[in-house]
Amino acid sequence: MQYSQRALALSPSNTLAISALAQSLAKSGKEIINFSTGEPDFDTPTPIKNKAIEAIENGFSKYTAVSGIAELREAVAQKLLRENQLSYSPKEIIISNGAKHSLFNAMCAILNPHDEVIIPAPYWVSYPEIAKFCQATPVFIPTTQDQNFKITPQQLKASITPRTKLLILNSPSNPTGSLYTQEEFQALGKVLEGSDIWVISDEIYEKLTYSNHFISLASLSSDLLERTITINGLSKSTAMTGWRMGYLACKDSTLLSCIDNLQGNSTSNINSFTQIASIVALSLEEEIQAMKEEFLKRRDLAYKLCSSIPSLSLNCPDGAFYLFININHASRFQGDSMKFSQALLEEQGVALVPGIAFGAEGYVRMSFATSIENLQKGIEKIKDFLES
Ligand SMILES: Cc1ncc(COP(=O)(O)O)c(C=O)c1O
Repeated sequence: MQYSQRALALSPSNTLAISALAQSLAKSGKEIINFSTGEPDFDTPTPIKNKAIEAIENGFSKYTAVSGIAELREAVAQKLLRENQLSYSPKEIIISNGAKHSLFNAMCAILNPHDEVIIPAPYWVSYPEIAKFCQATPVFIPTTQDQNFKITPQQLKASITPRTKLLILNSPSNPTGSLYTQEEFQALGKVLEGSDIWVISDEIYEKLTYSNHFISLASLSSDLLERTITINGLSKSTAMTGWRMGYLACKDSTLLSCIDNLQGNSTSNINSFTQIASIVALSLEEEIQAMKEEFLKRRDLAYKLCSSIPSLSLNCPDGAFYLFININHASRFQGDSMKFSQALLEEQGVALVPGIAFGAEGYVRMSFATSIENLQKGIEKIKDFLES
Protein backbone atom coordinates (compact mmCIF):
# COMPACT_ATOMS: atom_id res chain seq x y z
CA MET A 1 0.00 0.00 0.00
CA GLN A 2 1.14 3.58 -0.71
CA TYR A 3 0.46 6.58 1.49
CA SER A 4 0.52 10.32 1.10
CA GLN A 5 4.06 11.66 1.54
CA ARG A 6 2.58 14.77 3.12
CA ALA A 7 0.67 12.75 5.70
CA LEU A 8 3.68 10.52 6.41
CA ALA A 9 5.85 13.59 6.99
CA LEU A 10 3.74 14.68 9.97
CA SER A 11 5.54 14.02 13.27
CA PRO A 12 3.77 12.49 16.21
CA SER A 13 3.76 14.86 19.13
CA ASN A 14 6.82 14.59 21.38
CA THR A 15 4.44 14.96 24.27
CA LEU A 16 2.74 11.65 23.51
CA ALA A 17 5.44 9.54 25.16
CA ILE A 18 5.00 11.49 28.39
CA SER A 19 1.19 11.33 28.38
CA ALA A 20 1.29 7.60 27.61
CA LEU A 21 3.67 7.05 30.54
CA ALA A 22 1.49 9.22 32.81
CA GLN A 23 -1.58 7.20 31.86
CA SER A 24 0.04 3.85 32.42
CA LEU A 25 1.45 4.94 35.81
CA ALA A 26 -1.99 6.26 36.84
CA LYS A 27 -3.57 2.94 35.77
CA SER A 28 -1.12 1.05 37.95
CA GLY A 29 -2.36 3.09 40.93
CA LYS A 30 0.36 5.79 41.17
CA GLU A 31 -0.86 9.27 42.07
CA ILE A 32 -0.06 11.60 39.16
CA ILE A 33 0.04 15.38 39.41
CA ASN A 34 -0.55 16.57 35.91
CA PHE A 35 1.12 19.84 34.93
CA SER A 36 1.09 18.97 31.24
CA THR A 37 -2.41 20.04 30.21
CA GLY A 38 -3.02 22.83 27.75
CA GLU A 39 -6.56 23.68 28.80
CA PRO A 40 -8.31 25.55 31.61
CA ASP A 41 -9.45 23.23 34.41
CA PHE A 42 -12.64 25.28 34.89
CA ASP A 43 -16.02 24.13 33.63
CA THR A 44 -17.66 26.11 30.79
CA PRO A 45 -19.68 28.96 32.37
CA THR A 46 -23.38 28.13 32.93
CA PRO A 47 -24.92 30.82 30.64
CA ILE A 48 -23.02 29.29 27.69
CA LYS A 49 -24.15 25.76 28.51
CA ASN A 50 -27.75 26.89 28.96
CA LYS A 51 -27.78 28.62 25.60
CA ALA A 52 -26.52 25.48 23.84
CA ILE A 53 -29.18 23.34 25.57
CA GLU A 54 -31.86 25.85 24.52
CA ALA A 55 -30.60 25.74 20.92
CA ILE A 56 -30.74 21.94 20.87
CA GLU A 57 -34.23 21.94 22.35
CA ASN A 58 -35.34 24.48 19.75
CA GLY A 59 -34.19 22.13 17.01
CA PHE A 60 -31.20 24.21 15.91
CA SER A 61 -29.52 21.10 14.61
CA LYS A 62 -29.16 21.49 10.85
CA TYR A 63 -26.30 22.54 8.55
CA THR A 64 -25.54 26.24 8.68
CA ALA A 65 -23.59 28.55 6.36
CA VAL A 66 -20.07 27.11 5.97
CA SER A 67 -18.32 30.10 7.57
CA GLY A 68 -20.81 30.40 10.43
CA ILE A 69 -24.23 31.93 11.02
CA ALA A 70 -24.53 35.65 10.34
CA GLU A 71 -25.33 36.50 14.01
CA LEU A 72 -22.12 34.84 15.22
CA ARG A 73 -19.92 36.48 12.58
CA GLU A 74 -21.52 39.79 13.55
CA ALA A 75 -20.81 39.08 17.26
CA VAL A 76 -17.15 38.32 16.45
CA ALA A 77 -16.88 41.53 14.39
CA GLN A 78 -18.28 43.52 17.32
CA LYS A 79 -15.91 41.83 19.77
CA LEU A 80 -12.91 42.63 17.57
CA LEU A 81 -13.98 46.27 17.33
CA ARG A 82 -14.88 46.66 21.01
CA GLU A 83 -11.92 44.86 22.53
CA ASN A 84 -9.18 44.95 19.91
CA GLN A 85 -9.78 48.15 17.91
CA LEU A 86 -10.05 46.04 14.76
CA SER A 87 -12.61 46.91 12.15
CA TYR A 88 -13.72 43.82 10.21
CA SER A 89 -17.09 43.26 8.56
CA PRO A 90 -18.86 39.95 9.36
CA LYS A 91 -17.97 38.80 5.81
CA GLU A 92 -14.28 39.09 6.72
CA ILE A 93 -14.66 36.50 9.48
CA ILE A 94 -14.70 32.70 9.16
CA ILE A 95 -15.72 30.46 12.06
CA SER A 96 -13.91 27.10 12.22
CA ASN A 97 -13.49 24.07 14.48
CA GLY A 98 -11.13 25.70 16.94
CA ALA A 99 -8.21 28.06 16.39
CA LYS A 100 -6.17 25.09 15.20
CA HIS A 101 -8.57 24.57 12.30
CA SER A 102 -8.44 28.31 11.48
CA LEU A 103 -4.63 28.07 11.41
CA PHE A 104 -4.75 24.98 9.23
CA ASN A 105 -7.17 26.62 6.79
CA ALA A 106 -5.16 29.83 6.62
CA MET A 107 -1.85 28.06 6.04
CA CYS A 108 -3.34 25.74 3.40
CA ALA A 109 -4.76 28.77 1.61
CA ILE A 110 -1.47 30.73 1.67
CA LEU A 111 1.33 28.22 1.22
CA ASN A 112 2.81 26.57 -1.86
CA PRO A 113 5.57 23.92 -1.87
CA HIS A 114 9.01 25.39 -0.91
CA ASP A 115 7.57 28.59 0.54
CA GLU A 116 9.28 29.53 3.78
CA VAL A 117 7.38 30.08 7.01
CA ILE A 118 9.16 32.02 9.76
CA ILE A 119 8.40 30.58 13.18
CA PRO A 120 9.92 32.04 16.36
CA ALA A 121 11.15 29.27 18.68
CA PRO A 122 10.05 28.10 21.21
CA TYR A 123 6.86 27.58 19.23
CA TRP A 124 3.49 25.94 19.59
CA VAL A 125 3.83 22.35 18.31
CA SER A 126 1.40 22.49 15.38
CA TYR A 127 2.92 25.46 13.48
CA PRO A 128 5.81 23.56 11.87
CA GLU A 129 3.69 20.45 11.34
CA ILE A 130 1.02 22.34 9.39
CA ALA A 131 3.74 24.12 7.38
CA LYS A 132 5.29 20.76 6.51
CA PHE A 133 1.89 19.36 5.56
CA CYS A 134 1.62 22.24 3.07
CA GLN A 135 5.09 21.22 1.76
CA ALA A 136 6.45 24.54 2.94
CA THR A 137 9.69 24.93 4.91
CA PRO A 138 9.64 26.07 8.53
CA VAL A 139 12.43 28.60 9.25
CA PHE A 140 12.94 28.93 12.98
CA ILE A 141 14.19 32.04 14.74
CA PRO A 142 15.71 30.86 18.02
CA THR A 143 15.17 33.11 21.04
CA THR A 144 16.71 33.07 24.50
CA GLN A 145 15.44 33.41 28.03
CA ASP A 146 17.38 36.71 28.27
CA GLN A 147 15.32 38.19 25.43
CA ASN A 148 12.21 36.81 27.12
CA PHE A 149 11.77 34.48 24.14
CA LYS A 150 10.74 37.33 21.83
CA ILE A 151 12.28 37.88 18.40
CA THR A 152 13.99 41.17 17.58
CA PRO A 153 13.53 43.18 14.36
CA GLN A 154 17.17 42.34 13.48
CA GLN A 155 16.50 38.62 13.81
CA LEU A 156 13.37 38.92 11.69
CA LYS A 157 15.20 40.85 8.98
CA ALA A 158 18.00 38.31 8.88
CA SER A 159 15.60 35.40 8.44
CA ILE A 160 13.72 36.85 5.45
CA THR A 161 14.59 35.42 2.01
CA PRO A 162 12.91 35.74 -1.41
CA ARG A 163 10.99 32.57 -0.47
CA THR A 164 9.51 33.92 2.76
CA LYS A 165 5.73 33.77 2.53
CA LEU A 166 4.50 33.84 6.10
CA LEU A 167 5.47 34.85 9.63
CA ILE A 168 3.64 33.34 12.59
CA LEU A 169 3.42 35.34 15.82
CA ASN A 170 1.80 34.08 19.01
CA SER A 171 1.36 36.56 21.85
CA PRO A 172 0.80 35.64 24.65
CA SER A 173 2.86 32.60 23.77
CA ASN A 174 2.40 28.93 24.34
CA PRO A 175 4.83 27.68 25.74
CA THR A 176 6.68 30.71 27.16
CA GLY A 177 3.88 33.07 28.29
CA SER A 178 5.75 36.00 26.67
CA LEU A 179 3.72 38.97 25.52
CA TYR A 180 4.89 41.46 22.88
CA THR A 181 4.48 45.16 23.68
CA GLN A 182 3.09 47.67 21.21
CA GLU A 183 6.58 49.03 20.50
CA GLU A 184 8.00 45.56 19.90
CA PHE A 185 5.19 44.69 17.48
CA GLN A 186 5.58 48.03 15.70
CA ALA A 187 9.29 47.42 15.22
CA LEU A 188 8.60 43.98 13.71
CA GLY A 189 5.89 45.49 11.50
CA LYS A 190 8.39 48.02 10.12
CA VAL A 191 10.63 45.18 8.92
CA LEU A 192 7.74 43.75 6.90
CA GLU A 193 6.72 47.00 5.20
CA GLY A 194 7.10 46.86 1.42
CA SER A 195 7.18 43.04 1.39
CA ASP A 196 4.54 40.48 0.36
CA ILE A 197 4.84 38.55 3.59
CA TRP A 198 1.65 37.42 5.31
CA VAL A 199 1.45 37.34 9.09
CA ILE A 200 -0.65 35.01 11.21
CA SER A 201 -1.30 36.52 14.62
CA ASP A 202 -2.42 33.71 16.95
CA GLU A 203 -4.22 35.52 19.77
CA ILE A 204 -5.83 32.51 21.46
CA TYR A 205 -4.45 33.46 24.93
CA GLU A 206 -5.57 37.08 24.62
CA LYS A 207 -7.78 37.05 27.73
CA LEU A 208 -5.06 35.61 29.93
CA THR A 209 -2.64 38.49 30.38
CA TYR A 210 -1.37 39.48 33.79
CA SER A 211 0.92 42.49 33.60
CA ASN A 212 1.37 44.23 30.27
CA HIS A 213 -1.56 45.13 28.09
CA PHE A 214 -2.56 42.76 25.27
CA ILE A 215 -2.20 44.24 21.76
CA SER A 216 -3.77 42.89 18.58
CA LEU A 217 -1.05 43.06 15.93
CA ALA A 218 -3.38 44.12 13.09
CA SER A 219 -4.61 47.14 15.07
CA LEU A 220 -1.23 48.88 14.84
CA SER A 221 -1.17 50.09 11.22
CA SER A 222 -3.06 49.79 7.96
CA ASP A 223 -0.07 47.89 6.54
CA LEU A 224 -0.32 45.29 9.33
CA LEU A 225 -4.11 45.13 8.98
CA GLU A 226 -3.79 44.24 5.29
CA ARG A 227 -1.16 41.51 5.72
CA THR A 228 -2.36 39.95 8.98
CA ILE A 229 -4.72 37.05 9.53
CA THR A 230 -5.97 37.42 13.08
CA ILE A 231 -6.76 34.09 14.73
CA ASN A 232 -8.58 33.61 18.00
CA GLY A 233 -11.25 31.39 19.57
CA LEU A 234 -13.10 30.46 22.72
CA SER A 235 -11.10 27.43 23.90
CA LYS A 236 -8.87 29.16 26.41
CA SER A 237 -10.81 32.36 27.15
CA THR A 238 -14.10 30.77 28.17
CA ALA A 239 -13.01 27.23 29.08
CA MET A 240 -14.54 25.77 25.90
CA THR A 241 -11.77 23.54 24.51
CA GLY A 242 -14.17 20.71 23.66
CA TRP A 243 -16.78 22.90 21.96
CA ARG A 244 -14.47 23.65 19.02
CA MET A 245 -15.01 27.29 18.18
CA GLY A 246 -12.21 29.29 16.58
CA TYR A 247 -12.20 32.07 14.05
CA LEU A 248 -10.03 34.06 11.71
CA ALA A 249 -10.41 37.56 10.38
CA CYS A 250 -8.67 39.06 7.39
CA LYS A 251 -9.13 41.78 4.79
CA ASP A 252 -8.25 39.79 1.67
CA SER A 253 -11.39 38.64 -0.16
CA THR A 254 -9.53 36.07 -2.31
CA LEU A 255 -8.00 34.45 0.75
CA LEU A 256 -11.40 34.43 2.47
CA SER A 257 -13.05 32.74 -0.48
CA CYS A 258 -10.24 30.13 -0.73
CA ILE A 259 -10.71 29.33 2.97
CA ASP A 260 -14.49 29.20 2.61
CA ASN A 261 -14.08 26.72 -0.26
CA LEU A 262 -11.55 24.66 1.65
CA GLN A 263 -13.82 24.42 4.68
CA GLY A 264 -16.90 23.89 2.50
CA ASN A 265 -15.24 20.85 0.94
CA SER A 266 -13.92 19.41 4.18
CA THR A 267 -15.70 20.02 7.48
CA SER A 268 -18.44 22.51 6.44
CA ASN A 269 -19.82 24.55 9.35
CA ILE A 270 -18.86 23.98 12.99
CA ASN A 271 -21.61 22.40 15.04
CA SER A 272 -24.76 24.47 15.01
CA PHE A 273 -25.51 24.81 18.72
CA THR A 274 -21.90 25.74 19.58
CA GLN A 275 -22.45 28.69 17.27
CA ILE A 276 -25.50 29.90 19.20
CA ALA A 277 -23.76 29.43 22.56
CA SER A 278 -20.64 31.22 21.26
CA ILE A 279 -22.61 34.44 20.81
CA VAL A 280 -23.21 34.44 24.57
CA ALA A 281 -19.60 33.45 25.30
CA LEU A 282 -18.23 36.40 23.30
CA SER A 283 -19.90 38.93 25.57
CA LEU A 284 -19.28 37.29 28.97
CA GLU A 285 -17.20 39.45 31.28
CA GLU A 286 -17.66 38.51 34.94
CA GLU A 287 -16.94 34.80 34.50
CA ILE A 288 -13.86 35.47 32.37
CA GLN A 289 -12.56 37.97 34.92
CA ALA A 290 -13.06 35.44 37.74
CA MET A 291 -11.06 32.76 35.87
CA LYS A 292 -8.33 35.27 35.08
CA GLU A 293 -8.02 36.28 38.74
CA GLU A 294 -7.69 32.65 39.74
CA PHE A 295 -5.02 32.10 37.06
CA LEU A 296 -3.13 35.15 38.34
CA LYS A 297 -3.04 33.74 41.89
CA ARG A 298 -1.79 30.43 40.54
CA ARG A 299 0.84 32.08 38.37
CA ASP A 300 2.20 34.10 41.30
CA LEU A 301 2.35 31.06 43.56
CA ALA A 302 3.83 28.70 40.95
CA TYR A 303 6.42 31.29 39.90
CA LYS A 304 7.42 32.00 43.51
CA LEU A 305 7.75 28.32 44.42
CA CYS A 306 9.66 27.32 41.27
CA SER A 307 11.99 30.34 41.50
CA SER A 308 12.99 29.27 44.98
CA ILE A 309 14.42 25.97 43.67
CA PRO A 310 18.15 26.67 43.14
CA SER A 311 18.71 24.47 40.07
CA LEU A 312 15.78 25.95 38.13
CA SER A 313 15.59 29.33 36.44
CA LEU A 314 12.58 30.93 34.82
CA ASN A 315 10.99 34.19 33.72
CA CYS A 316 7.67 35.31 35.12
CA PRO A 317 5.12 34.80 32.30
CA ASP A 318 3.06 37.84 31.26
CA GLY A 319 0.27 35.72 29.82
CA ALA A 320 -1.20 32.25 29.09
CA PHE A 321 -1.00 29.58 31.82
CA TYR A 322 2.48 28.10 31.50
CA LEU A 323 5.85 28.45 33.22
CA PHE A 324 8.75 27.75 30.87
CA ILE A 325 11.52 26.45 33.09
CA ASN A 326 15.23 26.25 32.36
CA ILE A 327 16.57 22.87 33.57
CA ASN A 328 20.14 23.22 32.30
CA HIS A 329 21.49 23.50 35.85
CA ALA A 330 19.87 20.28 37.00
CA SER A 331 23.17 18.43 36.61
CA ARG A 332 21.76 14.89 36.45
CA PHE A 333 20.18 15.52 33.04
CA GLN A 334 22.52 17.88 31.16
CA GLY A 335 19.57 19.73 29.69
CA ASP A 336 17.87 16.64 28.23
CA SER A 337 14.23 17.66 28.67
CA MET A 338 12.80 14.27 27.72
CA LYS A 339 14.98 12.39 30.23
CA PHE A 340 14.18 15.00 32.89
CA SER A 341 10.41 14.70 32.28
CA GLN A 342 10.45 10.90 32.20
CA ALA A 343 12.47 10.60 35.41
CA LEU A 344 10.30 13.19 37.21
CA LEU A 345 7.19 11.29 36.22
CA GLU A 346 8.56 7.89 37.24
CA GLU A 347 10.16 9.01 40.48
CA GLN A 348 7.67 11.60 41.74
CA GLY A 349 4.54 11.21 39.60
CA VAL A 350 4.68 14.78 38.25
CA ALA A 351 3.95 15.30 34.53
CA LEU A 352 5.54 18.21 32.63
CA VAL A 353 6.05 18.68 28.88
CA PRO A 354 9.67 18.45 27.62
CA GLY A 355 10.83 21.64 25.92
CA ILE A 356 12.11 19.68 22.93
CA ALA A 357 8.45 19.41 21.81
CA PHE A 358 8.49 23.20 21.37
CA GLY A 359 11.91 23.38 19.73
CA ALA A 360 13.61 24.38 22.99
CA GLU A 361 15.86 21.71 24.49
CA GLY A 362 16.96 22.47 28.05
CA TYR A 363 13.48 23.59 29.16
CA VAL A 364 10.25 22.07 30.42
CA ARG A 365 6.75 23.51 30.28
CA MET A 366 4.61 23.49 33.38
CA SER A 367 0.91 24.32 33.09
CA PHE A 368 -0.60 26.12 36.08
CA ALA A 369 -4.14 25.41 34.91
CA THR A 370 -4.66 23.33 38.04
CA SER A 371 -5.56 23.88 41.71
CA ILE A 372 -3.40 25.77 44.22
CA GLU A 373 -3.24 22.57 46.26
CA ASN A 374 -1.88 20.59 43.28
CA LEU A 375 0.65 23.33 42.54
CA GLN A 376 1.95 23.29 46.11
CA LYS A 377 2.14 19.51 46.26
CA GLY A 378 3.60 19.05 42.77
CA ILE A 379 6.28 21.73 43.09
CA GLU A 380 7.33 20.29 46.46
CA LYS A 381 7.80 16.97 44.64
CA ILE A 382 9.89 18.68 41.92
CA LYS A 383 12.05 20.12 44.69
CA ASP A 384 12.51 16.67 46.27
CA PHE A 385 13.32 15.23 42.85
CA LEU A 386 16.06 17.80 42.24
CA GLU A 387 17.49 17.46 45.71
CA SER A 388 17.60 13.66 45.61
C1 LIG B 1 -0.90 28.78 20.70
C2 LIG B 1 -2.10 27.97 20.41
N1 LIG B 1 -2.78 28.21 19.29
C3 LIG B 1 -3.88 27.51 18.97
C4 LIG B 1 -4.35 26.51 19.80
C5 LIG B 1 -5.57 25.74 19.36
O1 LIG B 1 -6.70 26.08 20.08
P1 LIG B 1 -8.11 25.45 19.73
O2 LIG B 1 -8.47 24.58 20.87
O3 LIG B 1 -9.04 26.63 19.61
O4 LIG B 1 -8.00 24.71 18.45
C6 LIG B 1 -3.67 26.21 20.99
C7 LIG B 1 -4.13 25.12 21.86
O5 LIG B 1 -3.42 24.60 22.69
C8 LIG B 1 -2.53 26.98 21.31
O6 LIG B 1 -1.86 26.75 22.44
